[in-house]
Amino acid sequence: SGSGPALSRNNKSDLWVPQRSRPRRNRKSPSVRSMVRENVVLPSDFIYPLFIHEDSTENVPIDSMPGCVRHTLSSVLKEIEESVALGVTSFVLFPKVPENVKNNLGTEAYSPDNLNNRAVSEIKRRFPDVTICTDVALDPYSNQGHDGIVNDGRILNDFTINQLCKQAVSQARAGSDVVAPSDMMDGRVGAIRDALDSEGFTDVSILAYTAKYASAYYGPFRDALDSHPGFGDKKTYQQDPANGREALIEAQLDEMEGADMLMVKPGLPYLDVIRRLKDNSNLPIAAYHVSGEYSMLKAAAERGWLNERDTAMETLMCFKRAGADVVLTYYAKQAAKWIKEDMGY
Ligand code: PBG
Repeated sequence: SGSGPALSRNNKSDLWVPQRSRPRRNRKSPSVRSMVRENVVLPSDFIYPLFIHEDSTENVPIDSMPGCVRHTLSSVLKEIEESVALGVTSFVLFPKVPENVKNNLGTEAYSPDNLNNRAVSEIKRRFPDVTICTDVALDPYSNQGHDGIVNDGRILNDFTINQLCKQAVSQARAGSDVVAPSDMMDGRVGAIRDALDSEGFTDVSILAYTAKYASAYYGPFRDALDSHPGFGDKKTYQQDPANGREALIEAQLDEMEGADMLMVKPGLPYLDVIRRLKDNSNLPIAAYHVSGEYSMLKAAAERGWLNERDTAMETLMCFKRAGADVVLTYYAKQAAKWIKEDMGY
């Protein structure tokens, strides 16, 4: 009949649409699907971001990030111990800094015994084999709520780098394994590399926030640290979400300046940028599944609109497929539990 497919009958008189390639053969069973699967998500892919504070001796829930808290020092040690037992061995710390020590120069950022540095030393003393990453940027320490020093409403690039170098060196002295500049000042990766090297920290790695966009998805993180910009926005230093090619300029510079890994942030809306960096650099690529992405999923799951486990694991897999070698995610510990269940070990 005129409008149907080109039907035939095979030798057994069964209906047959003649064709040799049938992609569904590679999907026919869990065993075959797992045999041909191109990517896997493992707990060892994750860097688990953790918020710390010392405003009180209790953990403080973060309303806009259900399931995440500002940890006390003893609680963060417990969280790390439990994560390590699940195979998550890398962490990045974000301190909430008391208002009374914030200033425009962010000097608390390189105070040797600030909360961040004390936490790093204690964690490394208790768990010498874990990888501790530390955030290099002034915003948690700035009374202006910006990543750099403010002068006349502008963010000063080179003066800020001077502070960032002191911050990175103080973190290395405390025992940080990886410093992660998230500030987006031009030239900071090379300057930090030189500062670390001249103090003997040639083994401390730099995870560069290479393509960090001026994104609305950071809102819940700024709630967590109480670090919303005091005025304006971050568009003179973070990248314009409209631009993809600009990320390649940043990647080339960070690579030449000695970055060990390149990061794209946020994650899911920027999978194309992850892929471009992967295709244009031989360095490991990290993706940051940021606070707003986490909170959107939590909110939908709380309403019963999305299956949290399936959606979260699909999202993490998509980062791998897009080219990420490393994923920073607030789901790290939970995902490691799910992976363990799936593997049945
Ligand atoms: C600050 C910093 C931010 C994040 C990581 N480091 C926020 C910002 O740039 O304002 C965001 C992470 C997240 O949203 O999960 N230098």
